[in-house]
Amino acid sequence: MNDSALQAAKAQIEAACAVAGKPVIRTFFDEPTFTATHVVHDPVTRRAAIIDSVLDFDQAAGRTSHASADAIIAYVHEQKLTVDWLLETHAHADHLSDAPYLQQQLGGMLVIGREIVTVQNVFAGIFNEPTSFARDGSQFDRLMSDGETFAIGNLGAIALHVPGHTPACLAYVIGDAVFVGDTLFMPDYGSARADFPGGDARTLFRSIRRLMQLPDETRVFLCHDYKAPGRETYVWETTIGAERTGNVHVHDGVSEDDFGTMREARDKTLGMPRLILPSIQVNIRAGHLPEPEANGVSYLKLPLNLL
Ligand SMILES: [Fe+2]
Repeated sequence: MNDSALQAAKAQIEAACAVAGKPVIRTFFDEPTFTATHVVHDPVTRRAAIIDSVLDFDQAAGRTSHASADAIIAYVHEQKLTVDWLLETHAHADHLSDAPYLQQQLGGMLVIGREIVTVQNVFAGIFNEPTSFARDGSQFDRLMSDGETFAIGNLGAIALHVPGHTPACLAYVIGDAVFVGDTLFMPDYGSARADFPGGDARTLFRSIRRLMQLPDETRVFLCHDYKAPGRETYVWETTIGAERTGNVHVHDGVSEDDFGTMREARDKTLGMPRLILPSIQVNIRAGHLPEPEANGVSYLKLPLNLL
């Protein structure tokens, strides 16, 4: 298969491994949602990207707050970084994005995968969204496709389309690191579920195996960690080599059928994520709350007996 996007990503990682000036990565872990937000910067130019932010949400009170984002903003100021990019790996189902607040405070272009339009259309139906809800991705600043390149200062970056968990999932290769979203978890934990609307286990397998063709030394940064049984600490960084040889769901030698059968059986046992209904409604709007009603209040919907 002539996979030019993957070849470009491999070449970039090999080049980045060979030179000084690899990306500096600081991770902020949100324990209530087990989400890792990564701040990536070029040490030479101090240009930065923030990947997968978290809007704090007290579901019982219906109240949002920005403590998690404020910690990131303080770090960006302290490190004297300029934020060029706010990257979303996908429309998350387990936490709300705080990208609009970060953008207002720090600037940067808000990016997600081009297939977000598919996700918007599916969930516009589920939530019976009004016609004023745009289903063309226009809530974001830029929609990226497979193989699209961009830069963070002097660091090269490439988006790879890795569908399966959702149709719109992107992995971002930045310098010698890849930010895989929910395609992979730590080797001892495995892979993400593939049973959300538009998800597909066999598609996820193919995306993961594609990522595993990156060089073994590629640093891999995850969107989540849940501590595998027997592990006491949260970890969100590994390597392609470690995933390829040791991932409990999808190491070398596991076939597409083996993975698909395992993943589909396991997904049937999983309940819906605690925050799926609020998360999706906000994240398909690029992290914005729904349009306020006549009294100035935003409301979220709770579809009954649907999911
Ligand atoms: Fe996810």
